[in-house]
Amino acid sequence: MNDATIVVAGATGNLGGRIVKALGERGARVRALVREGAAREKLQRLQELGATILSADLNNTSEVTKACSGASCVVSTLQGLRDVIVETQTALLDAAIKAEVPRFIPSDYSIDFTKFPYGENRNLDLRREFHKGLDKSSISATTVFNGAFADMLTGQMPLVLFKLKRVLYWGDADQRMDFTTMDDTAAFTARAALDPSTPRFLRIAGDQLSARELAVAVTEVTGEKFRVFRAGSLGMLGTLIKIARTMAPGENELYPAWQGMQYMRNMFDGRAKLEPLDNDRYPGIRWTKARDVLSAVRAMQSNRP
Ligand SMILES: NC(=O)c1ccc[n+]([C@@H]2O[C@H](COP(=O)([O-])OP(=O)(O)OC[C@H]3O[C@@H](n4cnc5c(N)ncnc54)[C@H](OP(=O)(O)O)[C@@H]3O)[C@@H](O)[C@H]2O)c1
Repeated sequence: MNDATIVVAGATGNLGGRIVKALGERGARVRALVREGAAREKLQRLQELGATILSADLNNTSEVTKACSGASCVVSTLQGLRDVIVETQTALLDAAIKAEVPRFIPSDYSIDFTKFPYGENRNLDLRREFHKGLDKSSISATTVFNGAFADMLTGQMPLVLFKLKRVLYWGDADQRMDFTTMDDTAAFTARAALDPSTPRFLRIAGDQLSARELAVAVTEVTGEKFRVFRAGSLGMLGTLIKIARTMAPGENELYPAWQGMQYMRNMFDGRAKLEPLDNDRYPGIRWTKARDVLSAVRAMQSNRP
């Protein structure tokens, strides 16, 4: 049991809700900081998880300072573009500092963007921009780097092409990439939130697989032969990103096509690879393998009428 109080901003979100659950399971007191007008069913779910709901305008420092008062860590799982990741998160940070909260976990949960320069990944540049203020502040910050959410392997991430029985790659089929499920990321982040002595960066990966290894895993899980398919060189991907950004800029969208391609390039070029890993920092976390994620979806598909 743990009687620490943790504030989770973005608790109504996908990762945020999982972190609230994981904190509750460890006996922490959780304050879910939500914005006014948040969906009722999401609030009910958070209440069922034992969280105290605090509704506030996150840009209102005095409201958020009150919500953070007495907490030992603020965990941000906010998602958005500059107005959220830089501006609202900065307002949240200021309030946490004013409330004398000692620790802050920013909404990063990504590949290691400290390993490549500004200008290669728009969404991660926003986090980098937020870090500039964070690192100058008096609060003790910890970023969790988890690679890509493994859950996306079966859908959002265009790597495993189930219908074509191909695993797509750019550049090198043997370049390993990091994958961690949302639940494992949440379980680890909850432990980090309750740990008073975390370093500035923590790196985790439930699995590390190359495109070739992924093809073997999908073949084993499905019983059907999957082969790797080379989409092109990393240089070609860079050119495609420029073309896509010119033709379909979607600068106000979170994930325009070119943004997804930027993540792909960062993963396949190997610089954002996570090492050394902090997987063993907390006992009792069972890391989910890519095979487990693929098997679960396969089982669901075959149970469909
Ligand atoms: N590594 C990966 O592969 C990967 C993949 C996806 C996400 N992520 C990262 O994980 C983190 C969480 O993402 P997610 O998918 O869980 O996001 P999500 O489901 O979209 O949730 C975002 C949360 O932020 C809240 N929010 C957004 N703008 C706000 C504002 N102006 N004021 C107050 N609350 C606001 C939302 O509140 P409402 O419910 O009221 O809208 C929601 O609770 C992000 O850092 C994201 O980049 C990583």
